[in-house]
Amino acid sequence: MSAYLQVEGLNKSFGGLQALRDCSFTVAQGRITCLVGPNGAGKTTIFNAITGFLVPDTGHVTFQGISLDGRTSQQIVRHGIARTFQNLRLFVDLTARANVLAGMQDHVGEEPFTAIFRPFHTARALAAKQDAAMAVLAHVGLAAQADMLVRNLSYGEQKLLCIARILATGAELLLLDEPTSGLSGAALSDVMALLRRLQAEGKTLLVVEHNTRVVQQIADDVLFLHQGHLIAQGAPADIIADPKLAEIYFGGAI
Ligand SMILES: Nc1ncnc2c1ncn2[C@@H]1O[C@H](COP(=O)(O)OP(=O)(O)OP(=O)(O)O)[C@@H](O)[C@H]1O
Ligand SMILES: [Mg+2]
Repeated sequence: MSAYLQVEGLNKSFGGLQALRDCSFTVAQGRITCLVGPNGAGKTTIFNAITGFLVPDTGHVTFQGISLDGRTSQQIVRHGIARTFQNLRLFVDLTARANVLAGMQDHVGEEPFTAIFRPFHTARALAAKQDAAMAVLAHVGLAAQADMLVRNLSYGEQKLLCIARILATGAELLLLDEPTSGLSGAALSDVMALLRRLQAEGKTLLVVEHNTRVVQQIADDVLFLHQGHLIAQGAPADIIADPKLAEIYFGGAI
């Protein structure tokens, strides 16, 4: 039986820099897998390769037995994989609700023919879309902030909104690029609780995470990436306790 997500032999060079080298791993359905490794290890590049934001030089990605090779980022979302961005990429002059609506897949209300000749149908579909946007905002705890401009949200709220936006796609595999970076206290706990809740609801999560405490608390499996290559895979306690990996991660600082 094929793995839920299978990444096989990915290579990607940027000029003289090899960002991914023969990178292979699998992700199991229903689990939270943390992707860790030092800055520049290639974590975001892997997300870009899986989600169609870049084409690897060689290698294959298979999701639920279906090859994603050569598919566009929109096609990959339709297959059920959505990702957040390390640098958020929110529309800060729009409301939280508008950001969620912008991430939705359908084009309700955008087809003039249907909008003019089937106005009631269009109005109903638009109302349903608004309801769906409100539902994902409520799901991440942002119902009260729905009509606030994103620039007026706290950083923690913006991170939650990034997750709401990909939930609105209906994807079942969520790739989260540093969802807790820059957060502490209640904001950090809120994101961790949300990730656990999403898992309980049946989502599969692949999470880039630098905070060892967070990895320990949320990960079922850990993938350790170094110089574009997967050098270790295992349970969080085993990866975190490995002195060789700590040396690579912290450059001998501990
Ligand atoms: N589009 C690009 N053009 C040139 N070099 C790139 C590009 N994208 C990534 N790189 C380089 O590839 C390497 C891997 O980058 P990547 O962003 O994947 O690392 P990362 O593991 O996500 O790091 P961080 O923890 O800092 O986010 C880095 O040396 C980076 O500078
Ligand atoms: Mg990165």
